[in-house]
Amino acid sequence: MITNTELEYKGNLYPDQIVDFNQDSDKFYFTTDNGVILEVTVIRNSTIRFRYATDHVMEPDFSYAISPDAPRGYKDLKAEETDTEYLISTAKVKILVDKKSLRVQISDLEGNIINEDELGFHYEENYTYGGNSVKMSKITQSGESFYGMGDKATHFNLKGKRVHNWVTDQYAFGKDQDPLYKAVPFYIGLHQNKAYGIFFDNTFKTHFDFAHERRNVTSFWAEGGEMNYYFFYGPDISRVVRSYTDLTGTPELPPLWALGYHQSKWSYFPESRVKQIASKFRKLKIPCDAIYLDIDYMDGFRCFTWDKTKFPDPKRMINELNEDGFKTVVMIDPGIKVDRDYWVYQEAIKNDYFCKRGDGPLMSGKVWPGQCNFPDYTNPKVREWWAGLYKELMSEVGAHAVWNDMNEPAVMEVPTKTAPLDTRHDFDGHPCSHRKAHNIYGMQMVRATYEGVKKYVYPKRPFVITRAAYSGTQRFASTWTGDNVATWEHLWIANVQVQRMCMSGMSFVGTDIGGFAEQPNGELFARWIQLGIFHPFCRVHSSGDHGDQEPWSFDKEVTDIVRKFIELRYQLLPYLYTSFYKYYKDSVPMIKPLVYHDQEDHQTHFRTDEFIFGDQILVCPVQEPNAKGRRMYIPRGRWFNYWTNETLEGGSEKWVDADIDKIPIFIKEGAIIPKYPVQQYVGELTIEELQLDVYYINGTENSMVYEDAQDGYDYTKGEYSLRNFKLTGKDKELILQQFKDGNYITSYETFKLNLMGLPFKIKSIKLDNETISLKDVKMNGGNTLHVTKDFTTLHIMGK
Ligand code: GLC
Repeated sequence: MITNTELEYKGNLYPDQIVDFNQDSDKFYFTTDNGVILEVTVIRNSTIRFRYATDHVMEPDFSYAISPDAPRGYKDLKAEETDTEYLISTAKVKILVDKKSLRVQISDLEGNIINEDELGFHYEENYTYGGNSVKMSKITQSGESFYGMGDKATHFNLKGKRVHNWVTDQYAFGKDQDPLYKAVPFYIGLHQNKAYGIFFDNTFKTHFDFAHERRNVTSFWAEGGEMNYYFFYGPDISRVVRSYTDLTGTPELPPLWALGYHQSKWSYFPESRVKQIASKFRKLKIPCDAIYLDIDYMDGFRCFTWDKTKFPDPKRMINELNEDGFKTVVMIDPGIKVDRDYWVYQEAIKNDYFCKRGDGPLMSGKVWPGQCNFPDYTNPKVREWWAGLYKELMSEVGAHAVWNDMNEPAVMEVPTKTAPLDTRHDFDGHPCSHRKAHNIYGMQMVRATYEGVKKYVYPKRPFVITRAAYSGTQRFASTWTGDNVATWEHLWIANVQVQRMCMSGMSFVGTDIGGFAEQPNGELFARWIQLGIFHPFCRVHSSGDHGDQEPWSFDKEVTDIVRKFIELRYQLLPYLYTSFYKYYKDSVPMIKPLVYHDQEDHQTHFRTDEFIFGDQILVCPVQEPNAKGRRMYIPRGRWFNYWTNETLEGGSEKWVDADIDKIPIFIKEGAIIPKYPVQQYVGELTIEELQLDVYYINGTENSMVYEDAQDGYDYTKGEYSLRNFKLTGKDKELILQQFKDGNYITSYETFKLNLMGLPFKIKSIKLDNETISLKDVKMNGGNTLHVTKDFTTLHIMGK
């Protein structure tokens, strides 16, 4: 049967000529003859928003992604008109809008085209669901590469690929499988050494084609909603990533323990088993800060309850673990068991907090507890209620942190793996179906969790983890990449996913080290730990049905390697924390893919394995069995091999030795790497002295060390210690200057400086103009000296 709708089906529709233009301060409106409105908003000099409406109607403006604190401000805003086009310019970009077609072209101030519409905006009536599919096509520039897009488990450079955003529970996903758990519709384009970014802020299912279908065309489209995207101009990738992250927000600083090593399994129970695991860490002297309780701690998988046969007195247990330096992280899922005798269920029913189907009944589906209903976290009242549910768990029982899982939401035994599309949502007062709310459902759940946890752990800082995420979720939670597999290929995927997430505004990320499904052998586990200690979130987690995955589950050699690398992470905590500070403060990703580090070097454009941890440490995991080392690309500049202190000049691929107890690590010349002593958990030791490993440079390099009370909020009131170091090296001279900011007084009084790679013998040393006796300087191999933490200038002269 041919319906009227099909008869009227018109295929793609395009804007025609502009008939009206007006400016309202930083907003420009262009209206076409056939009722398309383009709204251009200048957010910052290099951040411009493009929003299109059809049929003369702009919907109310609303976004979950955009941070309420996103900075705004621009200079030199101008609008001009010629016979054929409108021209808007800021201090950084020029935007041309074609009068005949509404097509847009964006160039830099020198007139280099950065991004231009091919067909531009077009739309198609979505006659299955109503509304429009909204589409955008752009010209792919010559030599263009593409990056970003969240957790895609595919080659780092997306050129030639087509990807989709629909958050999905993908147990044991494979390489190139798509979509996965996150929806981050943000990409970076790079051509002629100039980078830009596009964030398509549309929560429907979205699709991106990076010169896959047509070699010269890059397009993106959504199955509903608005064509609504933000353009960010670089020209540096770093600028693009930071502008996107400024717009969608960064998290507050986590408690330092959250950056320690974490041990998890599905599931550790009963209490005696949890205790046994914890004490084994201490006995074997393997540092660990957190232990996880997966769903089996609950009574029949009912959230906010305890199985009292397995955990008779959770408060006492958590307290005892805490005394031994372990924080307890508990899982909470979104599905609430349909059970008339269960208080959470009763409250939700009484208050009408569950999602409903299009024709009225509650949306229900099977998850771990059996039949469940699902709170509508897109309703602010529901979020408030959900936040309140954490009161007892956090303030009374004393859990330290929460892990939200299955929040895509995952629904079992249905082919779609999630809620039916007609499920309704409040969407903060913009009612809609699941088609629009699906991608942000998990984000709104973890947002509510974050609010609750934050309130009840106060004055301490919250730590929350989520599996599902949409752009902006990083404001509320850290994340992991879901149910991976214990294979060598997944080690490669883990590395690519974490780098990609960091490029996509979400730095606080890690993978299930060792693999969630199946079991690694000792070698794979050791290699994965060597990578995992460089990921901002560092946790071993596994499904448990394939055997044990604790550091001691393999042979002694593996245990020793694992200990050595976890110890290295604990030594590097001040360095890692400083990277987190830069992420929190300046939106700088904590891990930088090589192309981010040096986009002008074309060798970096297709590299996937090597990355920069923080700003100055180059790491490259060994990703195959039986390796004694590997070939890797060393980026331009001089680098110190961390293990041997030999220096080498980058700019080419090199073989690097890395037997099973090593991973290639290089330190950028001139870097100052702060180190703490090894502790079994954060706060175990009072730091008596800060070690600074100083890597000589013939030239200049800046480094930074950020510290504070490691928890609590005093840092927001000036109680922090920020040390900027400037190292200047010459043939026979090294000058270290320190610039200090903040009121926090660190526990130590001195630095232990390890001077690496000095090309000269020390003749004399002056500290703030006073000569230091050379007796105090140990010359055995590394030159070591202890100096007061308050110095301004250290001047080392050579013979
Ligand atoms: C999901 C999670 C996994 C967890 C399991 C049981 O598969 O991704 O981490 O262990 O559910 O809760």
